[in-house]
Amino acid sequence: MTERAGRVGIGCDHAAVELKRALMPLIEELGGSLRDFGTDGPESCDYPDFAHAVAEAITAGQLDRGVLICGTGLGMSYAANRHAGVRAALCTDGFTARMARAHNDANVLCLGARVVGIGVAEDIVRAFFTTDFDGGRHARRVAKIEPGDKP
Ligand code: RB5
Repeated sequence: MTERAGRVGIGCDHAAVELKRALMPLIEELGGSLRDFGTDGPESCDYPDFAHAVAEAITAGQLDRGVLICGTGLGMSYAANRHAGVRAALCTDGFTARMARAHNDANVLCLGARVVGIGVAEDIVRAFFTTDFDGGRHARRVAKIEPGDKP
């Protein structure tokens, strides 16, 4: 059975406001209850502020998933992945997004607004929010990601 998107935090920097706004209705259509962490305008801002806010809410159990968008998605993924229990996947295609969920149990999707167009971004979001974690041998491997947390 496919999971619903759940409680989803979304954040972006100035490079990605338009793509964020364009993707929000789709995430809601896929069952996501959205909390928008900003930014909301074109003024230059710092992507780690938004990545840390969403990642902290996931770590605190206030959110199930996150979507973080900046120019490339790189900075957002670096910052989000510093948080224990956060597995942020930078995806540029639907296959990677499906694998990020099925094999890596990713809980944060990172996108590059200067890298993918709206059509590809929608494919990625659909794949991310409609693919379940496969578990089994992948659960063993995911458990080994956290340093010092080996089974
Ligand atoms: C902002 O110019 C840009 O550096 C940022 O959006 C992102 O691509 C960083 O990883």
